[in-house]
Amino acid sequence: MVRVFMGSLALSVLIFTGCNDSTDIDSEISTLVQKYELTGDPLAGRDIPSVTDAKVKLGMKLFYSKHLSLGMDAACASCHHPFLGGGDGLSLPIGVEAVDPELVGPGRLHKSTGHYYDGGPTVPRNTPSTFNVALFDRTQFWDARIESINPVKGANGSVGTLLVPDSSDFDRTLWDSNVVANLPAAQANFPVTSGPEMRGFDYGSLQTKDDVRKYLVDRLRGLNGDLNATAISAWLEAFRDGFSAPGADASTLITRENIFNAIGEFERSQVFVDNPWNRYLKGDKNAISDKAKRGAYLFFSSYEDGGANCVQCHKGDFFTDEKLYVMAVPQIGRGKNGDNTTEDYGRENVTLNEEDRYKFRVPSLLNVEVTGPWGHDGAFVTLEGIVRHMLKPETALQFDENSLFQQGILVQCKDTKTNTERALQRLQENRRVGVSPHRSVNFSDEQVDELVAFLKTLTDPCVKDRECLKKWLPDYDSNESKALDLLEAKL
Ligand code: HEC
Ligand code: HEC
Repeated sequence: MVRVFMGSLALSVLIFTGCNDSTDIDSEISTLVQKYELTGDPLAGRDIPSVTDAKVKLGMKLFYSKHLSLGMDAACASCHHPFLGGGDGLSLPIGVEAVDPELVGPGRLHKSTGHYYDGGPTVPRNTPSTFNVALFDRTQFWDARIESINPVKGANGSVGTLLVPDSSDFDRTLWDSNVVANLPAAQANFPVTSGPEMRGFDYGSLQTKDDVRKYLVDRLRGLNGDLNATAISAWLEAFRDGFSAPGADASTLITRENIFNAIGEFERSQVFVDNPWNRYLKGDKNAISDKAKRGAYLFFSSYEDGGANCVQCHKGDFFTDEKLYVMAVPQIGRGKNGDNTTEDYGRENVTLNEEDRYKFRVPSLLNVEVTGPWGHDGAFVTLEGIVRHMLKPETALQFDENSLFQQGILVQCKDTKTNTERALQRLQENRRVGVSPHRSVNFSDEQVDELVAFLKTLTDPCVKDRECLKKWLPDYDSNESKALDLLEAKL
């Protein structure tokens, strides 16, 4: 009796749920989730430092200190601020020689007396977020010019050898991860050597990148005569705290490796993955709306099934395969070819291989709602804009630079149309010869809305909550913060 009763109950549940739209979409998503091996737990197997760790706290001070720029007018946080999604909210950044160095985000302008002034931003590429950099296993930068040679899943580049720029982006060298701890630590060595980002254009006697790094080490040790006594002793204390070495001296503690490894640890503590999508994957079927579920279906399903197959590049729980593709995002700004054109050949500038022209690394989409403007040069000022582009890059030909100006973003766009046309031709050629897996699809406005709704489920609420983010900001009331000249950032 009982068995029959149970059986018919189970059957009626099946019939009932079979008629329910929401359950249908849940099961369709569930099939895709299994196919793409999504777990809802991007941190599994990763070693993530806590924001309260001693070394992370030291890294925070270095990250916010203007002492790491030769002219003492820019810090990492001038472009990577937690309140701006770990970026700067600009299409293209301004590092040194800002009109107001304390102003971060929209309104930050290049001083008219600054080097290479053209009215617009000085740096040729958009600032990626430092949030979740602990989740990269292979690469750093839009052109992946920092790479882990034998990437191990979950290791963040902490195993084996790293391939990094040497005298130029295409002349690269090997660093041992026993010395340079991981990908973010390696990356942190570079902004300080970049003219428009932090180095500036004075100090002509410092010719190589290593000359600049050594100068900065000497500065923090108090050897250059450009810091006052309060600052010098504050740095020594900060390093003693950071490495729990109360008696150690400056030459033992303040080393290049310690500086950049500590900055890397601070960045690696900026993990924001507690989002509705992951809660949904872990079983809370109400964590995201039906509209977002339809968006998820479009994101993960194949072209044949009416989807956009975004997952073929935005793979896994981190939403990137860390590989490089041509997507023909409209090219704005100064360009990065170093040849007085406004072109940016992307990966080709690293490999000098023509086949890599216009390729850029797939960005993660976690917290993408707050990391705009979007694309390697920030050409898109709305999330909807970049989504429409991903669906159909041919629309780049209708790119309207006024969309930037309307947001108060001044960027030079004199060659945008011709540069973009060339990138688009390359995409079409790559498709023709089977190098690009991308296909354009025509989606309705409603479907675009659904995709955007899905992407917004990748936002960890903490990244929109200044109270929650405060842990990643220094204590500005302390005397130490003043001594170390930490950027206060008006925003
Ligand atoms: C002037 C603005 C600016 C400053 C200052 C700056 N960055 Fe960046 N950062 C950028 C830009 C632009 C890129 C992308 C460059 C590229 O890919 O060619 C970038 C890339 C990165 C990345 C790579 C992220 C990824 O997705 O691969 C990390 C990490 C990072 N910066 C950390 C730092 C640290 C640490 C500092 C300080 C030592 C710093 N940045 C200073 C603008 C800035
Ligand atoms: C063929 C690989 C590929 C496919 C398919 C693809 N993307 Fe991308 N996506 C990229 C690359 C590469 C970039 C960076 C391009 C650039 O800036 O030049 C990118 C950038 C983005 C960005 C900007 C992120 C940022 O931080 O700036 C968003 C959002 C995005 N893609 C969403 C999507 C969506 C939604 C789909 C499906 C409709 C999709 N992508 C399909 C490769 C792909």
